[in-house]
Amino acid sequence: MTPAVLFQGVSKTYGSGAKSFTALTEVNLQIQQGEFFALLGPNGAGKTTLIGILSGLVRPTQGLAKVMGFDVQTQGSAARRALGVVPQELVFDPFFTVRETLRIQSGFFGLARNDDWIDECLTALGLLDKANANMRALSGGMKRRVLVAQALVHRPPVIVLDEPTAGVDIELRESLWRFIQKLNTQGHTIVLTTHYLEEAEQLCSQVGFLKKGRLVSVEQTQSLLASSSLEQAFRRILADAA
Ligand SMILES: Nc1ncnc2c1ncn2[C@@H]1O[C@H](COP(=O)(O)OP(=O)(O)OP(=O)(O)O)[C@@H](O)[C@H]1O
Ligand SMILES: [Mg+2]
Repeated sequence: MTPAVLFQGVSKTYGSGAKSFTALTEVNLQIQQGEFFALLGPNGAGKTTLIGILSGLVRPTQGLAKVMGFDVQTQGSAARRALGVVPQELVFDPFFTVRETLRIQSGFFGLARNDDWIDECLTALGLLDKANANMRALSGGMKRRVLVAQALVHRPPVIVLDEPTAGVDIELRESLWRFIQKLNTQGHTIVLTTHYLEEAEQLCSQVGFLKKGRLVSVEQTQSLLASSSLEQAFRRILADAA
């Protein structure tokens, strides 16, 4: 089966000359379809850069990335259609309402009548009563919910969430994970970055560790947990592989 996500020899150096910084070094990773994958690593390890390469926003210096078999650089439009990314940074247009934002996003994918699915997303994310509120009138956590809905409007087979629960209350965390887990059982592939290791421990079938731009370990969560907690494993892996 085609892997949901493929990185082959991916390196990324930002800038050039004396000011250059290498954020990723020869990352090779395959995530199979249907997997719930946690991408873990300390601040600055390269997680968001790797996700940026997958979404086509960041150009790799070397190597290639594919989503559902589509090369993000040479088959960008098909790759984007197969992918939904919840970005780490809150970015939104303050002049639109929540529903307008989601309709416009649907329009990018040529989906003219998408309201049933939009309503399902709004309901699952506890946003239905804010559907007609302007984006600028939402709290931070609510804006993040809209970003989640926005990533899902075209029902992408691969869903990437870059720290989706940062600054989010317990209730939304639970409803978000219920919704994402349902999508996962329906066959969607999920890639998650988080600094809450207990989330990764509970949700993810596989865990990858990035350290200073290198993928230093990929393991099944179950076999990792047989010998230690995820937090212990995380500390050990970061202390090892210097
Ligand atoms: N546009 C850029 N120009 C220069 N350096 C950058 C740029 N974007 C990221 N970096 C650097 O690349 C490294 C990796 O950053 P990245 O955002 O990928 O880390 P991260 O693992 O997502 O961290 P966090 O957990 O804090 O979100 C950092 O040292 C960062 O300063
Ligand atoms: Mg990041």
